Amino acid sequence: MACRIAIDGPAGSGKTTVARLVAQRLGISYLDTGAMYRIVGLHLSRKGANVKSSSLKDYLKDLRIEYTDGNFYVNGTPVGEEIRTPEAGMYASLYAAHPDVREFLTRIQKEICKERNIVAEGRDIGTVVIPDAEVKIFLVASPEVRAKRRYFELIAKGYKVQYEDVLREIIERDQNDSKRDIAPLSKAVDAVEIDTSDLSIEEVVDMIIKLVRERCWEKF
Ligand code: C5P
Repeated sequence: MACRIAIDGPAGSGKTTVARLVAQRLGISYLDTGAMYRIVGLHLSRKGANVKSSSLKDYLKDLRIEYTDGNFYVNGTPVGEEIRTPEAGMYASLYAAHPDVREFLTRIQKEICKERNIVAEGRDIGTVVIPDAEVKIFLVASPEVRAKRRYFELIAKGYKVQYEDVLREIIERDQNDSKRDIAPLSKAVDAVEIDTSDLSIEEVVDMIIKLVRERCWEKF
């Protein structure tokens, strides 16, 4: 049986860094589902798709997202840093509330996670994508801590951003993601919650690895 590790939580909770390290330490695959919502968000915004439209299916027909060795390809072209901007994050969050977008990406994600050892991170992994995951983690941290992390991350990448704007964007995205009707950001009843506000990345990774060894003892 495969060992599937679901890591969910709000923007800046440390999901991406932690999930990547856990996958690396265990030597298994890693899936960043937020990247997929960013890809679709950018695609739809470039096409001028109205988020309130009853159907977005036509816009998604010509979009082929592939995932190979931890990298995404859109219609054969590798995806780069363009999906990491704050705007791409906002588009992702806006279009992620649309049922057609969720159906489109959930189907691909379920397929990627099928019968394979994987760490998948996002907002609805433990509730929708892998509801029967062997290990479910829900990471939390205060909005200020999360905004500070995102701020330093963006500055390091050369973006000229203000802390206050990053904090506002984080709070806005939290609201979009928690209040939407379909697959909102929420903790699965059987998920283990970890508050990362005062923990180092290594401490969080160690806690998760310990849980994985308990639940998937025959593999690791
Ligand atoms: O994780 P990241 O911040 O890159 O995700 C960008 C956006 O994609 C989130 O704010 C959320 O709206 C959406 N998302 C989602 N479900 C997921 C992953 C991301 O709705 N599983």
